[in-house]
Amino acid sequence: MKTPFIIAMDFPKASQAWELADRLDPRRYRLKIGKELFTAAGPDLVRGLALHDFDVFLDLKFHDIPNTVAGACQAAAKLGVWMINVHASGGRAMMEAARDAVAHLPQRPLITAVTVLTSLGAEGLAETGVKRKPADQVRHLATLARECGMDGVVCSGREAADLRKTLGTDFKLVTPGIRLPGSPPDDQNRTMTPAQALAAGADYLVVGRPVTTAADPIGALEELNRNLKSRKEGK
Ligand code: C5P
Repeated sequence: MKTPFIIAMDFPKASQAWELADRLDPRRYRLKIGKELFTAAGPDLVRGLALHDFDVFLDLKFHDIPNTVAGACQAAAKLGVWMINVHASGGRAMMEAARDAVAHLPQRPLITAVTVLTSLGAEGLAETGVKRKPADQVRHLATLARECGMDGVVCSGREAADLRKTLGTDFKLVTPGIRLPGSPPDDQNRTMTPAQALAAGADYLVVGRPVTTAADPIGALEELNRNLKSRKEGK
């Protein structure tokens, strides 16, 4: 059975991605390919992993004029990916063009939207001309994304509870910054355990370095799964 984990394949080379993918069961784990790996390894890797039955989240965060984003979404869908994403700040016309570009496909990818980059604090956001507080801007853009037919948003665990309440249950929340209790946060400011993130309302948990840099990635995943299970058993 599929777990909620999406493994962030943040590697510089295809060979490293394959090394890990070969050890993962596509019936249990989904994979995320971001800008680094895609720029280095290109569509062949994406196609290859999809052909190996992995659900691939192609995390390229499209943000451009509607026509260009529509074309990019169609090209991504042709690779057989499970999820793609766009920046909600690209606006209504851009998100609707993304949605329409793949709507007719028999197995269309889910489209999620990035609201406010978690690297942007209140000051950084104000500097871009946005006067709302980050949490309010996240809620505002997530609401717009839902209106435009996006399937969900990428959000921090902190925002998940608020968005779940505001946007209802059929809107996917994809949450990075997942760490086990006591593990290093790396450069993530606000981390949550798998159990906490699910309790906050997340549907999918993006986890990178705790798995990709572990001496025993499979052992690390087992521990992450145990953390989820402990929640179900109320431990
Ligand atoms: O290694 P770590 O578990 O921190 O990786 C998290 C992944 O989620 C990375 O691929 C990162 O780019 C991505 N991500 C994030 N924060 C966001 C959006 C995406 O950490 N707001």
